[in-house]
Amino acid sequence: MIEPIDWLGRWRALVVGRQEQAERWRGSPAREEDCWASTVGRFRELTATLREDEPFWATVRSVVRPDDTVLDIGAGAGRYSLPLAPLVRRIVALDPSPAMCQALEEGIAERRLTNVQVVHGRWPDRAAQIEPADVVICAHAMYWSAEIGPFLRALADHTRRLALLTLRVYSVDAWLGDLARRLRGEPRIPEPVALDLIGALSTLDLWPDVRIVPGYLRSYASLDELAAHAATLLAFPPDDAPLDFLREAVRPYASERDGRFWLDSRWRLTAILSWQAT
Ligand SMILES: C[S@@+](CC[C@H](N)C(=O)[O-])C[C@H]1O[C@@H](n2cnc3c(N)ncnc32)[C@H](O)[C@@H]1O
Repeated sequence: MIEPIDWLGRWRALVVGRQEQAERWRGSPAREEDCWASTVGRFRELTATLREDEPFWATVRSVVRPDDTVLDIGAGAGRYSLPLAPLVRRIVALDPSPAMCQALEEGIAERRLTNVQVVHGRWPDRAAQIEPADVVICAHAMYWSAEIGPFLRALADHTRRLALLTLRVYSVDAWLGDLARRLRGEPRIPEPVALDLIGALSTLDLWPDVRIVPGYLRSYASLDELAAHAATLLAFPPDDAPLDFLREAVRPYASERDGRFWLDSRWRLTAILSWQAT
């Protein structure tokens, strides 16, 4: 007999299993400090260089109305909240990371925005203190939440008109292929991706429209940089990674173009999921 899929349990198993695996590989539990502090610069850069034709931004821009209120769950450095603010009445931008919130506050000051309220905290823990909004957006902020049922339930309950979510189609380290198996003796447990979200939403009787679009694809200045990124994904400490081995091992995964190294464009596939509040 084929058992029905427990989508919420599957999501939890991926999030918890992936974190436990990384801790096991690292040999130490996750540190309490802000894990976004080291990558906030990249998110500032993504915010500053956001293109008008970037699919999620183009979608959000095309559906908001000047009188709308917006809730941005996991706003990060404000990639979407900052350019959206002049187009709507008010935005609540929620994020648990102090480094991201600081970058967001700086972006608000630089752009002299007066209608963005930054709320420091985690969804859905802060949901009770936040008003429902006409439009709720959530971009790449679900991968770390083990309990996705309450996350999505609260998100849907806070949506007055439209919910717009985006996340990857493939896990962030899917491109590493069998490298994890070779180096760690087991495959890397993937994070939850678009198909998992569709399944999780279905358990809440939410049936989104889904669009698969090209998303952001990171490129690398050198094979050394790509090897260092692979070392991070495989949870090697920076001063104890087999970089010489990795430099050769990652070579088949990247092609050189315009002086930079690019992964296969399949890995950039991203899903945009949306539904109307009923
Ligand atoms: C990859 S960044 C994306 C930031 C922004 N949405 C963007 O697309 O540039 C993920 C963000 O989600 C935030 N995050 C993670 N778990 C969250 C949760 N439970 N509630 C709210 N934000 C969360 C992190 O702090 C981080 O800033």
